[in-house]
Amino acid sequence: PVIYVITPTHARPQQKAELTRLKNVFLHVPALHWILVEDSEQKTGLVKHFLESGGISFTHLNVPTPKDWKLGENQPVWQKPRGVLQRNAGLDWLRSNFEPPASRAVVYFADDDNTYSTELFQEMRWTKKVSVWPVALVGGVMVERPKVTLSGKVNGWLTGWKPDRAFATDMAGFGINLDLLVNNPEAEFSLDSQKGFMESDFLEKIVKLHELEPKADMCTKVYIWHTRTEKPNMKDEEKLRKEGRPTNRNIEV
Ligand code: UGA
Ligand code: MN
Repeated sequence: PVIYVITPTHARPQQKAELTRLKNVFLHVPALHWILVEDSEQKTGLVKHFLESGGISFTHLNVPTPKDWKLGENQPVWQKPRGVLQRNAGLDWLRSNFEPPASRAVVYFADDDNTYSTELFQEMRWTKKVSVWPVALVGGVMVERPKVTLSGKVNGWLTGWKPDRAFATDMAGFGINLDLLVNNPEAEFSLDSQKGFMESDFLEKIVKLHELEPKADMCTKVYIWHTRTEKPNMKDEEKLRKEGRPTNRNIEV
């Protein structure tokens, strides 16, 4: 099966560094197709060059988040959902471009700042409906994970925050057989989901709890970390920019 990875991405000083970390992992994964979706009016040269530099099979898309839904400079991140329209654009592309049989493909939503281990992709490749696994460093705890019974069924969630959500998982905690998405064309992410319910609302549209396939040794191993990158200090750069001599004038960073 092919793994289609959908990644929303947006411009900031460390964007290329994040994308490079991802690419260096994806290069080790066979049969992976990367759908990179820019949050922008236009595709940027930086991302174009990055993808065309080779090694990975890719699709380059873009869709801007409406201004009212963008976070302000100093607004706390939880106030607005991120990557919503970009993931939906990836889903739309897949639904209109997949080559049958869709049952032979898996879809994974990989944000550009997380840390992924190659084992993660081996785990998800044979997903029949929806696979799930632990995600570390998220939701205010070391690890969030599905609760698995002795007979190997998921029957709940071990999280700090709202474990009673129908699907209390981060975006990075599940993979979906493409068949399920093709057969449920209305399943999309919503800007209107209640805070922290985006993943749960989406999964409710396509799967039942007892159908989930626990991976990573019955959800006892961690292969994905929800890392967040520190904002780089640009104090002197801003000064230099105003003086008309940015350090990155003829060099892509
Ligand atoms: C958490 C979850 O891990 C995300 O999957 C979820 O989208 C997010 O919360 C949410 O509630 O919306 P977090 O680390 O706080 O994630 O979010 P970011 O990593 O800042 O953003 C998620 C993705 O959206 C990233 O790939 C990022 O590049 C992209 N993004 C972010 C945009 O496309 N546009 C933006 O303006 C900001
Ligand atoms: Mn993130």
